[in-house]
Amino acid sequence: MADRSTFVVRPARGVRGVVRIPGDKSISHRYAMLAAIAEGTSRFHNFSAARDCFNTLGCLRTLGCDWKRADDAAIEVQGRGPRLSAPTEPLDCGNSGSTMRMLSGVLAGQPFTSEMFGDESLSRRPMARIMAPLSRMGAQVEARDGGRPPLKIRGGRLKAIHYKPEVASAQVKSCVLFAGLFAEGETIVEEPIRTRDHGELALRAFGAEVGRSGNIARMRGGQKLNAIAAHVPGDLSSAAFFLCAAALFPDSQLTLPGILMNPTRARLLDILILMGLKISVAQLEEQHGELVGAIEARGGTWKGAVISGADTAALIDEIPVLAATAPYTENGLEVRDAKELRVKESDRIAAVATNLRKMGAEIEERPNGFRIPGRQRLRGAELDSFGDHRIAMAFAVAALRAEGETNIHGADAAGVSYPAFFEELDTVAGR
Ligand code: S3P
Repeated sequence: MADRSTFVVRPARGVRGVVRIPGDKSISHRYAMLAAIAEGTSRFHNFSAARDCFNTLGCLRTLGCDWKRADDAAIEVQGRGPRLSAPTEPLDCGNSGSTMRMLSGVLAGQPFTSEMFGDESLSRRPMARIMAPLSRMGAQVEARDGGRPPLKIRGGRLKAIHYKPEVASAQVKSCVLFAGLFAEGETIVEEPIRTRDHGELALRAFGAEVGRSGNIARMRGGQKLNAIAAHVPGDLSSAAFFLCAAALFPDSQLTLPGILMNPTRARLLDILILMGLKISVAQLEEQHGELVGAIEARGGTWKGAVISGADTAALIDEIPVLAATAPYTENGLEVRDAKELRVKESDRIAAVATNLRKMGAEIEERPNGFRIPGRQRLRGAELDSFGDHRIAMAFAVAALRAEGETNIHGADAAGVSYPAFFEELDTVAGR
C-alpha cells in the first residue's frame, strides 16, 4: 500500500491458490441480533470480519448485550432474552444499512426510545422502506427529510401485519419479521421477488417457527429464541471478487473452501458458469439450514451476459465486480432493472461508469442499469472507491488485466465487508 488508503494494483498473469473467505456478512448480522434477544450464550465461529458486523455488535453492546471474542476466536454473545436495555447514547451504525434497517425491527419491539445514526453514505440512504411497516405495526419512527438517517424509534406494543413491500429487499423482510417476534398475531411478509432468506433460516435456527411458501414468509409473535452454536459459512459475495478474478485468465485455478451455497444467493454461480467460468462444488453440507460447499474454479473464455428482473435482485451485490470485469468479456454485459444500485453505499451505476471511463472503457449508463461492450482493453488509472467497499474491490480485480498500474484511492473502504481483501488478492495473483 502506498499510504493507508491507496492500494496499488499491478497487472497479473493469472490467479491461483486457496482463499479462505471470512464468514457471511448477511448471516453474521442476523445471528448477532437474534443472539442478543435469545436466552443463553451463543457462539459463532467464522463470524464475519466485516466492519459492518462490528457496528452491529457495537450497537448491541450499547443496548446492554455483552459479547466477546473467545480464545478459539469464536464470537460469544450473551443473550438478554427479548428485552434489551435502553441505550444511554445514540447507536452508531457506521456504514451499515443492514445494521440500521434490521436492528430497527428489534428496537420497534422494545419499551424505550432509541436513536440510530450512520456515516455520510448511510445518512443518504432511504429508510422509508422500513419506517412504513414499523409504523403500521405500532412503533413511532422519525427520520430526517422524509426518510433519511438519523432514525429515532419509539418502540412498544406491536401488532402483526401482512406486509407487501414495494422494493424487493431482504433487509426489509428481516426487519419486519424481527419486529414480528414482538407483535401480537401472525406477521406475514409477501415479497414482489423472493430475496435472500437468511432471516427466516436464522429465526428457525434460534428455535422460532417460520412458515414459508413461494414469496411469503409468516411467523407468530411472542416466540422465544434459544442460543445456538454455529459456524458461519464463507461469504459468497466476497468470494465473487476472486471468482471474477479467476474468470479473467484462462489458466486460473482457485479453491474456496466452506462457501455459502444458499440457493437465494447462488444464482451468481449459474451466471458465472454461463459466462464461461468452470466451477465445481464439493463437500456440500447443511449448517443451521444454510447450504455450504467448497468451490473449485478454473478460467475459460469470459463471455457476456444480460442480467434483468429477479436475476438483478439476486446478484445485486455482485454486479459491481461483474461490471468492472465486463469490458474483458467476449460480448459485453447488460444490466437492467437495477435502480436499487443507485442507493447502495454509493451510486454504484455512476461509480462503475466513472471508473471504467478512467480506465479507457466505454459504457452506456442508463437510469436503471447500463450496457458495457466486450473486447475492450483497459489501462491502469487513478481510481476512487467512492467510499464504497464493493467498488474498491471490484476495480482491484479489473486492474489485474489492465495495461499498467492502477491506484485505488480510498481502498480502506474494503474493510466494510472484507478487511483482508487486498492481502488475499496479492497472494493469489501471479505476476
Ligand atoms: C442484504 C440485502 C441486500 C444487500 C445487502 C445485504 C441483507 O440489501 O444488498 O448487501 O443482508 O439482507 P437490500 O435488502 O437493500 O436489497
